[in-house]
Amino acid sequence: MINKKVEDILNAQINKEFYSAYLYLAMSAFFDEIGLYGFANWTKVQAREEVDHGMILFDYIIERDGTIDLQQINSPDRSFENPLQVFEKILDHEKYVTESINCVAYMSDDECDLATRHFINWYISEQVEEEANALDIIKKLKMFGEDKASLYQLDKDLGTRTYQQHSYKSE
Ligand code: FEO
Repeated sequence: MINKKVEDILNAQINKEFYSAYLYLAMSAFFDEIGLYGFANWTKVQAREEVDHGMILFDYIIERDGTIDLQQINSPDRSFENPLQVFEKILDHEKYVTESINCVAYMSDDECDLATRHFINWYISEQVEEEANALDIIKKLKMFGEDKASLYQLDKDLGTRTYQQHSYKSE
């Protein structure tokens, strides 16, 4: 049986992961509208990974004999202007998610829930990767400036990203 405080914070985290999927989907639609189909692919693949993040939490709560509490998912931000601005928003959002995951870790420690403390390590590592990915693309976009040929090449590169299901148990 899972501790109630830990259960609540994990349910809240499910909502944040599904909101993340919405946000990335909104970004994907924006990139599709402006003809950057590789960027659209990259953000759509990320949306699917965010669903996986939510589902791993969902399965974990059930495995611990907890209660699932699915909360309303807010409409995502849609004020997108250009690739650099979108990726700066991505980095800000991922930093917010990292703080949220860190809070789950602290809460698990406080409540002596070592199983959750161990479980959440997977997310801590995942957040390092997600922030690094966004930062890498931001650096490239800043370096290219208004160079359309470089943007075109980056779009092609981002178009090669493929979805691979994230699974906690197989890690
Ligand atoms: Fe699931 Fe991008 O954090």
